[in-house]
Amino acid sequence: MRKITVLLCCILLGAAAASAQDRDVIAGIPVNYDESKVGDYKLGLPDPLTFNNGKPVKNAKQWKKRRAEIFQLFEENQFGRWQAKKPSLRYDVKEDAGFGGEAVRKQITLYFTPYDSGPYVDVLLYLPKDADGPVPILLNLSFSPNNLVVSDPGVKPGRRWDPKTRTVSEAASMPGPNPFGMDATVKKYLAEGFGFATLCYTDITPDFNDDDELGVRGLWHEKGAARASDDWGSISAWAYGVSCLMDYFEKDASVDATRVALTGCSRLGKTTIWTGACELRIKVVMPSCSGEGGAAMSRRVYGETVAHLTEPTRFPYQFCPKYAYWGDKLTQMPMDAHMLVALIAPRPLLLQTGTTDNWSDPKGEWLSLIEARKVYQLLGKDVPAGDEMPAADQPVYTTLGYVMHEGGHGVLPQDWDYYLEFMKRHL
Ligand code: GCU
Repeated sequence: MRKITVLLCCILLGAAAASAQDRDVIAGIPVNYDESKVGDYKLGLPDPLTFNNGKPVKNAKQWKKRRAEIFQLFEENQFGRWQAKKPSLRYDVKEDAGFGGEAVRKQITLYFTPYDSGPYVDVLLYLPKDADGPVPILLNLSFSPNNLVVSDPGVKPGRRWDPKTRTVSEAASMPGPNPFGMDATVKKYLAEGFGFATLCYTDITPDFNDDDELGVRGLWHEKGAARASDDWGSISAWAYGVSCLMDYFEKDASVDATRVALTGCSRLGKTTIWTGACELRIKVVMPSCSGEGGAAMSRRVYGETVAHLTEPTRFPYQFCPKYAYWGDKLTQMPMDAHMLVALIAPRPLLLQTGTTDNWSDPKGEWLSLIEARKVYQLLGKDVPAGDEMPAADQPVYTTLGYVMHEGGHGVLPQDWDYYLEFMKRHL
């Protein structure tokens, strides 16, 4: 039963979010799905192209300075700061053939400390077997341990946290072929000359309240100490883990570390966009259903809100403590999602949403793209021409891109095709 729970983790998370749409109160906080009650998201909305001192940003050089201001706002008010120094990283790499000889398979264990007893992340990387040089790759942040992402004998069993005991245990492989295996998707990427890497996010740091003494956050956390207002939440810690992995990719001659795309869904969509903001070595950023706390405008009160996210029984630990302060002061927040989108500029960004994923507010994501457009334009990049939200399954592949599948929260099979096409155009 437990195995099945792990296997269906991603799907269930999606279902949880979808069923939330039917309820009008979550964690004691009302949820609005009425467009006439969303309020004016432009109230108090900061302009990404105006410095904190009120002066306008006129060119790319000035944008660099403004970008630094915006980045700091997100560190201090939403995600928290990374720790300045990384401990020494170590890597163990095992290379063999994957998918019965159809691919080169690498299994990388990245240790965050000099000790085997410290936190580590297992990364599964497939490469086209006929590649004659470094290849661009897609890095997938997954809810599933690697051995449950594919049906490929020999993949090291992953691990799963138990929030009750606060311990990790091995995730057993599926007996027989994995019905949710992504083998066909991975092979599609390989056939187009891309590598495909996946990791289970909780290897980096777990995903539950009071988890700051565990995983990579535990490496700095002083036992019993209260969290500072800009202390990093787990989203920042997951981003930190990806940054460490980028250090590895730069050393792996089979990977073109200058052409890495990143994706992840839901809280991993939020992680994807924040990682893209922190880690400039990520070239293409493709968050799926990142919603509130991700690419959806917070000032637009529709579906989940900052107050829902930071309610003590829900996900405050994913953010810095200061974020909760803004829950009932949305119009005073010094930033909003359009500025998170702008932090990716001028790099390609594809926002993927779903028509019925109301909890995540697909329209709120479109509006943040509209508000961030002028930053991409200032930097000479192409953006969607009109203001009208694209219809379902009508991808917009401009550098600042958008696609909304017909359906709810999660990644549908066609989304993998959209990501692939976006990568082909922009990597
Ligand atoms: C909840 C949460 C969302 C989050 C999602 C997930 O639904 O409210 O903000 O994106 O979980 O990560 O699955």
